[in-house]
Order: sequence, then C-alpha cells, then structure tokens
Amino acid sequence: MTEIQIRKAEKKDLLSIQRLLSTYFLDMENLGPEDFILAEMGGKITGCAAPVRGTYGDRNFLEIHSIAVHPNFRGKGIGKRLIDYIINTLKDPDNSDNPVCELYVRTGSPGFFEKLGFIRLPDTDKLHLWAECKNCEHFEGCTQHAMKYSRSVNYH
Ligand SMILES: CC(C)(COP(=O)(O)OP(=O)(O)OC[C@H]1O[C@@H](n2cnc3c(N)ncnc32)[C@H](O)[C@@H]1OP(=O)(O)O)[C@@H](O)C(=O)NCCC(=O)NCCS
Repeated sequence: MTEIQIRKAEKKDLLSIQRLLSTYFLDMENLGPEDFILAEMGGKITGCAAPVRGTYGDRNFLEIHSIAVHPNFRGKGIGKRLIDYIINTLKDPDNSDNPVCELYVRTGSPGFFEKLGFIRLPDTDKLHLWAECKNCEHFEGCTQHAMKYSRSVNYH
C-alpha cells in the first residue's frame, strides 16, 4: 500500500477537506483548513480530523471534530494514524510542556474510538462538558456517545 503521511493541513487543502467531509454529509463546522490534521497517500487526501479546544470550568481540553476517512480507504488504519498523531504530537492546552493528556469526542462510531483506548462517558457528562448539549432540544434522543481518552503516564 502507498505510504500514509500524516501532516497539518494548510490553506491550499481547503477544497480537499470539504470534498472529503461532504462524502459523509459533514461540514467544516466553522473551522479553518489549518485546524485540521490530514492523512495523505500519493498526493491524495484520504483522511482528516480536527482537534478543537473546549473549556470546562477553568480547564481547557481538546476534542476531536470532523474525523473522516475516504470510503475507499476505510479499515486500513488511517483513522487510527490520525488519532495517534494527535495524541503523540499535540501539547496539553493547559500546559504546553506536556503532551495532550486527555482527549474527548462525541461520536456515532464508539466502536472505533474504543479500539483506540477511549472509554464511554455517561450521557450526563455531556451536560457538563458542552454548553450546546445543555441547551439542545434533542438531548434525550441524541445518538452521539461522549468518549474520553486519558494518557496513563503521569507527566507531572
Ligand atoms: C470512523 C472512521 C474515521 C474510522 O477510520 P478507519 O481508517 O476506517 O479506521 P481504522 O482502519 O484506523 O480502524 C482502527 C480500528 O478500529 C476498528 N474500527 C473502525 N471503524 C469502526 C467502527 N465504526 N466500529 C468499530 N470498530 C471500528 C477497525 O476495525 C480497526 O480495528 P483493528 O485495529 O482491530 O484492526 C471511518 O470509518 C469514517 O470515516 N467513518 C465515517 C465518518 C464517521 O463516522 N466519522 C466519525 C464521526 S465522530
């Protein structure tokens, strides 16, 4: 298989990201192309994910948004590579000397994230973590699972 390169996106990647997300009826959620991490194979963008900063009380956290792998390339480890890159490369939003310690996601694909070490959170946690969940009229019937990854090594 052609080698998979994981890299930060640039302005020039805008159309490729939009095209990839539209495959799954997703949009960029007001993010810019530079907010995304990409998987590229032989010059073709085959996957993307956006680590987005959130706030919980006086703490900041990172949440994965808009993760998508091109339908022809699913099941080849690209999604895993994107998440591994985020976990291993990005810094903790509250302490830039440390690697990212916690990562959150709201997802309809919990099985994928469980494979990568995320655990499911109770639905009530969504109310604490995300203001838009608190104010959402669809909260009771929501099919999005809240999940969390915690780095096991203590860096402090
Ligand atoms: C979910 C998605 C990003 C996974 O990417 P991928 O490149 O296909 O996943 P990988 O090949 O890296 O899979 C890693 C592991 O997770 C498993 N996996 C992948 N998708 C899974 C799913 N939906 N349910 C359970 N397990 C899954 C794989 O079998 C693999 O397991 P293994 O290590 O035992 O072989 C991709 O399928 C996708 O784009 N789906 C559509 C968009 C979407 O649902 N995005 C999530 C919105 S939050």
